[in-house]
Amino acid sequence: MMESAFGLPPDGAAADWTIEQNWSRFTADEHAVWDRLFERQSRLLPGRASTAWLRGLEVLRLSKPGIPDFAELNERLGAATGWQVVAVPGLVPDAVFFEHLANRRFVAGNFIRRADQLDYLQEPDVFHDVFGHVPLLSHPVFADYMQAYGEGGLRAIEHGAINRLARLYWYTVEFGLVRDGGGLKLYGAGIVSSYGESMFALDDRSPNRIGFDLRRVMRTRYRIDDYQQNYFVIDSFDDLLRQTIETDFAPLYAELAALPDIEPGTIVAGDRVLSRGTQAYALEKAGA
Ligand code: PHE
Ligand code: FE
Repeated sequence: MMESAFGLPPDGAAADWTIEQNWSRFTADEHAVWDRLFERQSRLLPGRASTAWLRGLEVLRLSKPGIPDFAELNERLGAATGWQVVAVPGLVPDAVFFEHLANRRFVAGNFIRRADQLDYLQEPDVFHDVFGHVPLLSHPVFADYMQAYGEGGLRAIEHGAINRLARLYWYTVEFGLVRDGGGLKLYGAGIVSSYGESMFALDDRSPNRIGFDLRRVMRTRYRIDDYQQNYFVIDSFDDLLRQTIETDFAPLYAELAALPDIEPGTIVAGDRVLSRGTQAYALEKAGA
């Protein structure tokens, strides 16, 4: 993910913020954290994650024990779609993030959470970035979407509209659901890399599940500190790619600037509601 502060890369990083993965530096304990996370998620995700995501996991042989060695991973990923994973110390500035995506490079945090942080961590680590995001980068259509998103990001900077575009990322790449095999399936990296949310997003009665609509999504605020209150459902990756590349976002940004934001958890006129949530989880958390 990205952060807004612009600055120089930290000591030891290249001008594009990348660093060597230096895979041999990871300790046995760090590899064991990956293995525990992997094992937990791979028990949960068959039947829940989208066919494309599950296939990516196989194609890339991510089940091999330990934190993946990017040199090896990149051979398989490159052969599938031409994407590469590159290591960075942590969050990078927006423009750097977009520039990498536009060139089919996905940046991954070069650290792993501690064993006492299996369930939650705010900053994306190598488990979130690689297990969550990389399987779908082996899918040709999703691969093109991510590149187009990076190009769109560079344009959004010029239009002062990064926040709109960040919402699109959030509700697709991070927390998206897709119609798949007659039901809803997970594809968002924030969901598939989370033990709790992989169940909550599909099974809980609390959140709304709403048909994806580009304008609607760009108007919807999101929460970064807890499970989502709305999930947006795409019909297919082809449809997502087509809608986003066929729309010129510049007039859209101008049009949306005049409209109010939509709060998480709210249903508005025109929504294609697939399941209306009770919001019980969010209400309880808010202490109501
Ligand atoms: N079509 C978008 C634009 O005009 C670019 C884009 C494509 C953004 C795909 C996101 C995803 O800026
Ligand atoms: Fe992410």
